[in-house]
Amino acid sequence: MSELEGQGVRLRALTPADYRMVHAWYGDPDLVAPFDRYSPDSLEEFQRSVESAPGDPASLAPRFAVVDRHTGELVGVVGYYLAHPVLEYLDVWYLLGNPAARGRGFGREAVALLVDHLFRTQSVERIGATVDVENVPSNRLVEGLGFRSEGTLRSALFHHGRWHDVRVYGITRPEWMARRPPA
Ligand SMILES: CC(C)(COP(=O)(O)OP(=O)(O)OC[C@H]1O[C@@H](n2cnc3c(N)ncnc32)[C@H](O)[C@@H]1OP(=O)(O)O)[C@@H](O)C(=O)NCCC(=O)NCCS
Repeated sequence: MSELEGQGVRLRALTPADYRMVHAWYGDPDLVAPFDRYSPDSLEEFQRSVESAPGDPASLAPRFAVVDRHTGELVGVVGYYLAHPVLEYLDVWYLLGNPAARGRGFGREAVALLVDHLFRTQSVERIGATVDVENVPSNRLVEGLGFRSEGTLRSALFHHGRWHDVRVYGITRPEWMARRPPA
């Protein structure tokens, strides 16, 4: 798997040394909420799911580790999945499990590297993101990358004891290429 280099972060394959920390993030609802429905019970199950993800386009397991380029520290994970049984597009997701890494542009850069990689390596014409309308950083992250809001799914996500509306975002290949011509 290729490594994807940004200014502040690098995306690389997860290694067994990462599993314990990332699995612990998934066990903390305050870190992963409000978005995550992927909750592997055991470390072994998590490991199996990460290792089988390359053969499963619908897998919700992390696809890349996000590393702070300057410290080498693992700060997050990102992933993508075939979001619909019939339609052909990928949804991206992202998590900075280390709260100290948030608010420094790492999230947006990591998602930009991922979207770029997906448009270069996959035959999809649209990449989406499905975001709780109340998740301000996440909405701003994708909007800043040029994703357009395409509508709202009402009461589509249950967490913290109630139903939440989610916003459907998307960006097409021509829109992405117009913003980010290949180097
Ligand atoms: C969502 C998440 C990845 C954002 O990563 P990040 O590195 O903190 O975000 P960035 O620094 O790249 O900033 C992206 C945008 O969010 C804004 N932002 C970041 N933190 C914010 C906060 N606490 N409150 C309001 N806006 C915030 C930034 O200002 C920026 O928007 P702008 O350029 O329009 O000003 C991170 O907050 C996270 O891991 N959250 C928990 C998991 C999650 O919600 N994932 C998304 C699921 S859909």
